[in-house]
Amino acid sequence: MIISLASLLESLPKVAHVEVIESIEAIFFETSTRKTFASVEDRHNFLYRYLGVYFKNPTFCFLALNPDLENLTESTTTAAINTHQNKMGTFIPRNILGYLVGTPVTTKEHYELHPYLELFRSHIDQRYPSHLHINFTQAARGKGTGSSLIAEFERALTASRSPGVHLITSTFSRNVTFYEKNNYQRVLEIDYQNSSLLMLGKIFPTLQSL
Ligand SMILES: CC(C)(COP(=O)(O)OP(=O)(O)OC[C@H]1O[C@@H](n2cnc3c(N)ncnc32)[C@H](O)[C@@H]1OP(=O)(O)O)[C@@H](O)C(=O)NCCC(=O)NCCS
Repeated sequence: MIISLASLLESLPKVAHVEVIESIEAIFFETSTRKTFASVEDRHNFLYRYLGVYFKNPTFCFLALNPDLENLTESTTTAAINTHQNKMGTFIPRNILGYLVGTPVTTKEHYELHPYLELFRSHIDQRYPSHLHINFTQAARGKGTGSSLIAEFERALTASRSPGVHLITSTFSRNVTFYEKNNYQRVLEIDYQNSSLLMLGKIFPTLQSL
């Protein structure tokens, strides 16, 4: 089941919000190559750069929940979560299998947080202003859920009239085939700090061309 972070937080008591955020952070660290930090502040800044900045607008953040809840329809989402909560006593972090955080517009703050974005700036500002980061816990990968999550995010973007979305990954990463399977095109490849960055993007049809 896919749910926006905004809807999930709304349906849960405030005390459970920390658990939700911490379980997203756990998935982030599972996939991150960087796991140790010089200080608490250093760790905090790292999390803010890749997650916290996106939580400011949770409408564009989506979560994939445990398959136990998968056969329920969207309208029963809240009921499902509440039932689950009652059963388990609380909303359990392991119910979150993967997340997508994104934004309809790449802002000045994103450029400041991620200096490499400047290299792609002309493409971003002209055609692909939206962007995303997506990660799943190991056991939940390869089951089509990442594709469902990306489709839900794109629906939110087109509803907000975004002209296009991009993401930056490593040229040689396995996830490139994931994005290509979801109809993202290779836009630009740039060498950066001893590696090669690849920008993939998708342009949404405008209302005129539909
Ligand atoms: C990339 C990812 C979000 C895709 O979600 P998913 O639910 O596994 O994707 P789907 O099942 O819809 O699509 C399967 C495709 O995902 C990719 N994929 C599957 N497992 C993967 C893994 N361990 N690492 C990277 N990509 C993977 C492959 O392209 C796969 O296609 P293939 O089976 O033909 O090789 C997820 O696999 C993941 O979190 N991977 C590790 C972290 C990562 O690469 N995040 C993206 C950073 S830009």
